[in-house]
Amino acid sequence: MRILGIETSCDETGVAIYDDENGLLAHQLYSQVKLHADYGGVVPELASRDHVKKTIPLIKAALKEANLTQQDIDGVAFTAGPGLVGALLVGATIGRSLAYAWNVPAVPVHHMEGHLLAPMLEEKAPAFPFVALLVSGGHTLLVDVKGMGDYTILGESIDDAAGEAFDKTAKLMGLDYPGGPRLAKLAENGVAGRFTFPRPMTDRPGLDMSFSGLKTFAANTIRANDDDEQTRADIAFAFQQAVVDTLAIKCKRALKETGHKRLVIAGGVSANVYLREQLAEMMSAMHGEVFYPRNEFCTDNGAMIAYAGMQRLKNGETLDLGVKAHPRWPIDQLTAIKA
Ligand SMILES: Nc1ncnc2c1ncn2[C@@H]1O[C@H](COP(=O)(O)OP(=O)(O)OP(=O)(O)O)[C@@H](O)[C@H]1O
Ligand SMILES: [Mg+2]
Repeated sequence: MRILGIETSCDETGVAIYDDENGLLAHQLYSQVKLHADYGGVVPELASRDHVKKTIPLIKAALKEANLTQQDIDGVAFTAGPGLVGALLVGATIGRSLAYAWNVPAVPVHHMEGHLLAPMLEEKAPAFPFVALLVSGGHTLLVDVKGMGDYTILGESIDDAAGEAFDKTAKLMGLDYPGGPRLAKLAENGVAGRFTFPRPMTDRPGLDMSFSGLKTFAANTIRANDDDEQTRADIAFAFQQAVVDTLAIKCKRALKETGHKRLVIAGGVSANVYLREQLAEMMSAMHGEVFYPRNEFCTDNGAMIAYAGMQRLKNGETLDLGVKAHPRWPIDQLTAIKA
């Protein structure tokens, strides 16, 4: 069985084809980063309009890449939320219409379930159960994953998402949008120990997180110090270290609480090398293992939507003739899929 997956929830248009026997057959991605760069962030209306232009050409390109025609597709999955409503509506309308025209089921997919399941596309895929740390531009979630679709939220950020904190701090440092990866690059030359940022909400029990204070701390540190390249790198390093340390402390607590031995990290920030290194070290000390997607599947992509869509299609979760888009949609409202 083969499914086409469409992702348009934010500023990436992603399309992929997944085969339940042969795995991923094609994936195409168009990033709108340049379109939004002048504004320092995503402009929703521009995002929607660009998805309108790019989605159909990418679907054609994916079919060509896989050497398939529309007759070979058994279902169409699309991101139904959470995300920007206008952007979601583009993928939902195209996905639903194509499924109707091709006479195959349409499958609505939860964007964060897509991120959470992205490591399943790798050779080293995690077995259930595990703890998932979802760290992206819009979300910071710790999830107890007992099985496919069986999600309990253990903790989340009460303010900025981890990726958002990276982006906002990068902006304060004068780095271009999207700042997260640029700040991480700057931190590579940073020296440990010169600055110490707080580890928010780690001094009390619980698994919720807070990252907006780090941005303020960064602003004050930048103001109080010289603007030479080494100082900038040292500040970037200290900021990154504080975010990563905080995430690691919360992951360790979540693993202890659930008793799970496997940790999955996904979403854009899971591409962060320092985060991966620190969590790998922590998991090895705990006799466990950490799993993450390849870099290109950490940020938004169609492959994760096609994969999640296949699981939902096999579970019979198809859509009637309406178009569905949910800008807000908690991940724990999904139904568990029996193995
Ligand atoms: N190496 C890195 N270090 C830190 N942050 C990174 C790195 N690479 C990407 N990011 C951050 O990841 C985020 C983008 O990830 P992603 O595409 O998953 O988020 P999103 O789709 O915008 O949000 P959501 O999935 O919550 O709707 C940005 O905030 C970006 O700065
Ligand atoms: Mg995303």
